[in-house]
Amino acid sequence: MINTHGIHPGTARPLGGDRYTSRAFMEAEWDNVWTKSWLITIRADQIPEPGDFMLEEIGRESILIVRQDDGGIKALYNVCQHRGNRLVIEPEGSMPSFTCPYHSWRFELDGRCSYAQDPEDFPGGDPCAHASLADIPCEQFSGFVWINMDPACASLRESLGPIWDAWSVYPLENMTRVQATSVRMPCNWKLLLDNFHETYHLPTAHPEGIEYAEDSYLETHIELYENGHALGQTKCCLPAHRLPAHKNRLTEPVASDLERWDLDPQAFRGRERDPREAVQRQKRALYAERGLHHYARLSDAQLTDVFHYTLFPNFATSLNADGMLFLRAMPHPTDPEHCIFDSWYYNFGDMSWHKSLVTLDGEQARKPVEREIIDYGDKSLGVVLDGDAWVMAGQQKALYSRGYRGAILANQERRITQYHAMIDRYIAGYRPPANSRSAA
Ligand code: FES
Ligand SMILES: [Fe+2]
Repeated sequence: MINTHGIHPGTARPLGGDRYTSRAFMEAEWDNVWTKSWLITIRADQIPEPGDFMLEEIGRESILIVRQDDGGIKALYNVCQHRGNRLVIEPEGSMPSFTCPYHSWRFELDGRCSYAQDPEDFPGGDPCAHASLADIPCEQFSGFVWINMDPACASLRESLGPIWDAWSVYPLENMTRVQATSVRMPCNWKLLLDNFHETYHLPTAHPEGIEYAEDSYLETHIELYENGHALGQTKCCLPAHRLPAHKNRLTEPVASDLERWDLDPQAFRGRERDPREAVQRQKRALYAERGLHHYARLSDAQLTDVFHYTLFPNFATSLNADGMLFLRAMPHPTDPEHCIFDSWYYNFGDMSWHKSLVTLDGEQARKPVEREIIDYGDKSLGVVLDGDAWVMAGQQKALYSRGYRGAILANQERRITQYHAMIDRYIAGYRPPANSRSAA
């Protein structure tokens, strides 16, 4: 962990609007950040059988992720080695091998070329001998497949540092995706991450949220890690201090949580700061009979609070005792003013009884869903993420203004400071130290 107070180790320049609008800056990020970082991709259980594959589109690259005959997983650039045609078109499926739709060169699941038409006509002999697909470092962790387009990268574990162990208490290997929306956003991808790096916007953009979560920076625990990652812990089951005096009593979401755990809200009148610890104790008492066995590994704080991790450069996740909110930004291939915002929600096991954390009823909370891709504004993402998306789209328009002189950041926004400093360090050549590479 590194010092947490207002640090800005890599750059002294203000965060100007050009970071979000400039094509030159976007190219520098592509060459030095996107293609040099570990990126979270699909769930391993989305491709269970040999030959099962999925494509992950990352900016201008298409990555083919394939289950191997030996049970492993490989990531390959989705480009035919004959003349550069896109090899696989379908976003997912199952194939014994991959045949290019242009001249029928064939590639095996591990990327080896196994057939080229008229091999005797090539001056160097059968081209398959030196035409395998280009592969990409690929690891599995927390049930997800992670890739890094830098062949010299540090291992994922080295890159994640303490996050690797911190996540081990959550049952991330066994989750059900119950929400999966991808939004084509009219903003730069970093505006998503800026937003996910601070809770300063909560009272304004999410007034409903502070009825359940204490946003005060004095009570928010922030940790900054090596390599640009961070944690923000928000106390929940606790109405915010900043709520008006007439509202600073037992709020409806807190009362619901108490009832869900067989506690009487009336007993907490006049004791509005007490439900958080009471719910923690009650969860300890009742988790086994409710089948929530993973609670045994969680700390008291993890039983009630949101542990919000941001992983450099494009991923944020809110982990609570019962599930994972997955928030990912993906770049547009060429346009710095557009990106894809992936918003998934995963439940840990059967959460059909659970109603507080996502806007789902009991039936929906059980049902696995396929990914849906929409344009910004097409439909609601739920009240919380709608608030975020609305400010991101508006901010992108204003960042062009000659009247904007660069960000003025509070200490509680220091995760943003670290994040942009790390982008600048990557552009200047920094890479996480690679002591070893662990195999997938
Ligand atoms: S480009 Fe793929 S076989 Fe020719
Ligand atoms: Fe938000």
